[in-house]
Amino acid sequence: MSFRTTTAVDYVEDVSPGSGALPPRAWYASSDAASLSLNGAWSLRVSATADAEDDAFAEPGFDFGEWAEVQVPGHWVLQGDGAFGSPIYTNHLYPFPVDPPHVPTENPTGDHLRVFDLPADWPDLGDGGVVLRFDGVESCARVWLNGTDIGEFKGSRLPHEFAVGHLLKPSGNVLAVRVHQWSAGSYLEDQDQWWLSGIFRDVTLLHRPAGSVLDHFVHASYDHVAGEGTLRVDSDVDGRVSVPALDIDVATGETVTVPVRPWTAESPVLYDGELVTEGERVPLRIGFRTVVLEDGLIKVNGTPLLFKGVNRHEWHPEKGRALDLETMRADVLLMKRHNLNAVRTSHYPPHPAFLDLCDEYGLWVIDECDLETHGFVEQAWRDNPVDDDRWTPALLDRAARMVERDKNHPSVVIWSLGNEAGTGRGLTAMAEWIHDRDGSRLVHYEGDIDCRDTDMYSRMYAFHAEVERIGEELDGGTHKRRGLPLILCEYGHAMGNGPGGIADYQRLFEAHERLQGGFIWEWIDHGIKHEELGFAYGGDFGEELHDGNFVCDGLVFPDRQPSPGLVEFKKVIEPVGIEGDGSDGTVRITNKQDFADLSAFAFEWSYQVDGETVESGSLSVPPLAAGESADVKLPGAPDGRGAETGWTVRALLAEDTLWAPKGHEVAWGQVAVAARLLPSLAASDAPVVGERLITLGPATFDARTGELRTIGGVHVNGLRLDVWRAPTDNDDGAEWQTDTRYGLLWRKFGLHRMRHRLDAVEVGEDSLTVRTRVAPAAWEVSLSTVYRWTSDGDRLRLTVSVGPEGDWTVPLPRLGVRFGIDASADRVRWFGGGPGEGYPDTKSASRIARWDATVDELQTPYVRPQENGARADVRWTEIGGLRIDGDPEFSFTARRWTTEQLAAATHLPDLTPGDTVWVNLDHGQHGIGSQSCGPGPLPQYYLRAEPAEFSFVFSEVS
Ligand code: GAL
Repeated sequence: MSFRTTTAVDYVEDVSPGSGALPPRAWYASSDAASLSLNGAWSLRVSATADAEDDAFAEPGFDFGEWAEVQVPGHWVLQGDGAFGSPIYTNHLYPFPVDPPHVPTENPTGDHLRVFDLPADWPDLGDGGVVLRFDGVESCARVWLNGTDIGEFKGSRLPHEFAVGHLLKPSGNVLAVRVHQWSAGSYLEDQDQWWLSGIFRDVTLLHRPAGSVLDHFVHASYDHVAGEGTLRVDSDVDGRVSVPALDIDVATGETVTVPVRPWTAESPVLYDGELVTEGERVPLRIGFRTVVLEDGLIKVNGTPLLFKGVNRHEWHPEKGRALDLETMRADVLLMKRHNLNAVRTSHYPPHPAFLDLCDEYGLWVIDECDLETHGFVEQAWRDNPVDDDRWTPALLDRAARMVERDKNHPSVVIWSLGNEAGTGRGLTAMAEWIHDRDGSRLVHYEGDIDCRDTDMYSRMYAFHAEVERIGEELDGGTHKRRGLPLILCEYGHAMGNGPGGIADYQRLFEAHERLQGGFIWEWIDHGIKHEELGFAYGGDFGEELHDGNFVCDGLVFPDRQPSPGLVEFKKVIEPVGIEGDGSDGTVRITNKQDFADLSAFAFEWSYQVDGETVESGSLSVPPLAAGESADVKLPGAPDGRGAETGWTVRALLAEDTLWAPKGHEVAWGQVAVAARLLPSLAASDAPVVGERLITLGPATFDARTGELRTIGGVHVNGLRLDVWRAPTDNDDGAEWQTDTRYGLLWRKFGLHRMRHRLDAVEVGEDSLTVRTRVAPAAWEVSLSTVYRWTSDGDRLRLTVSVGPEGDWTVPLPRLGVRFGIDASADRVRWFGGGPGEGYPDTKSASRIARWDATVDELQTPYVRPQENGARADVRWTEIGGLRIDGDPEFSFTARRWTTEQLAAATHLPDLTPGDTVWVNLDHGQHGIGSQSCGPGPLPQYYLRAEPAEFSFVFSEVS
């Protein structure tokens, strides 16, 4: 006989969204209705399966004395030092067998208990009702209050409310929540992130007085021709709406039109108002704006937008997706300070407080529904829940919970159905429902390639050439799609070093009206703080299936320190263009904003001689309207006396703002005047051959090998040609990318194990020449390399000539020399690009000036170590008692470990300082690109194996 047991946990595998919850409604904090936060310490018991324990724990009087403690909001696997299991990271593969809606028997289940009293001033229990609100529980929960089962729900990043007034007691209330890691809902939540179960957002008890607001919908549009706003607040319970600053006092449902200042991300004007019903006062923060699709463009208040956006997952290195308000604010401040104007809430509605911040500080938001079924791609989307009517109620429930919760935020201009869920009738049903419920916003979904259900054409990681064709309207596609604007909902994959090529995208966006910008993937590295590993990524918890460090692909590191990618992005999207060629003493200023004029900015000029500022002052710039340009005269240039000279012009905040103080730099540009004189050295010294050493000017060489030994008192170790860099995530590329994956080819062709054959050491009249052949084992290709040394007695010049031989089919990672100096070398000064790193396609933010840093400060702490820290366009540098002048400019790195050690490291603590500082002086570096999920470097950023010659002049500094 065989039978299947029926347990009380069948709801776990039920495709329905749940039972018992109240209809969704707008989220707000009432001005006067009482509320009680149930955040804090809860008791926890974790079981291995959904039905290991019965529901006796929910009964008042149950003895949970031995249970562990867990913080709510929180994920239990991130608490208890591994005692409650550990996180799992997969990109799109389901970490369980795909058999919807079934989930494994092994289903970690956290029973949560909290006993609470009502505060002394809590209203009479007979007065009105009480709602229990969960803002986010992953992935499925069943709830009991005082022993009564009140329902169960799925939809992890969406709110669920239950009416509980009839169950409450003044004291000793027992709230029991059983949370399952896996459920039918997990099939809908296959986002690229850690699987982290738990009650990870707030739990709140809300008093609902008789006559309080049920749901309300603020409609606040703006007529940009008349300069008027029209307000109507619909409310399920009648009341009055007042907005004192606008002299508005009307009934709910009544429409009123008055002159207003509109809301935009650039000027987020909010009017404080109130909705008052018989039983409650609800604060309103009203932003007037009108979003339309018109002339094939997304327009707000009559103006097409250019999104300078980022995809934001919620992340904290210790708390996972349980974010506090200060962390959310930190994100918004960082975004605003780096010139971003938009956020896609990839791939679920964020904590609602984040949207309040977007309203207040000004960010355009694409609010995305908690929906992704990406794992079904592995079976050609067969059984995809979004194309199976049984799941449609769950999809509609998710759409409604998002829209109803967030509908009153002016910052939300676009609803997104979800991410990477294929196509299907369920998505169409969601789009129809949303369009019907809220005609005042547009609908996005990237997977809808024909734009059947959507109001814009959206792509991810499209190559530059294709984006340009779309901009030129030379692409194909359905008739509908051809009439729609393009946004890149994801581009510029910020994994490790990079993304490269974003300036090239921005040029396209600015050149073609149809291209309305995009959203970098992604905001933050989801590294988990780890005692031994620094930050952990996929596989570090022993997961049998995982996607490694693909989870660390953000513009900020896990601790929210900006990565060079964010600094680059800030420069690329700056609101003011500042350009000039130095020929006519003017600078061209362009207002690149969509709405505001330039009056918020003050301009400063400074004049540099050899990178040092010698004069500065303020620059008067007319308050150009959005989109306008003007040529502004610069002051007369002081005499540079043969030095390299130029202006730097900066745009700064003229006044304090909510997000940055007066003086904060928003944009800058440099106008070169006189070019640098290349270092010259008259070879006058003759090499002197001794028994073991050859002496030339300040230097000594090994007489047998010609290898440099010392320059003055500085010992130099192993100077030789170097072509290898520790491959970046973008060098290695993703397996599904169509561009050539050079990181792999470089290893195949042995560029990490080049052999240096000595062919000749030639002592000339005024030079020492060392001829070598540099080549990898197993291959015929080589780089014939000649080092030619000369000196004027004080200084030493090295000229390196490189001639590729054989059939080179790959570009070089880098081309230059490397050498070691004593570890006491610490401070580095340079004249060139800085302050941060810059590679051929990531150096927009590299400013030519004098900089200094310690060797440690030169390192960029990518979570998975890889090539980093190169300073671009360096004229000269000083390190460890040496000064090095380049002819031409060079790229410079210095680190306390070798490239080989860097390449072998998997986490930052693997890198430990040795007794040498390794210096690379590069004539060239290969571009970075974005191939970890996107295109490789554009052809103009390739470092091709071609004949090259470059020089350095070394001297000793005291
Ligand atoms: C996209 C996806 C994101 C993320 C990204 C790569 O396909 O929407 O969630 O996986 O690729 O990091």
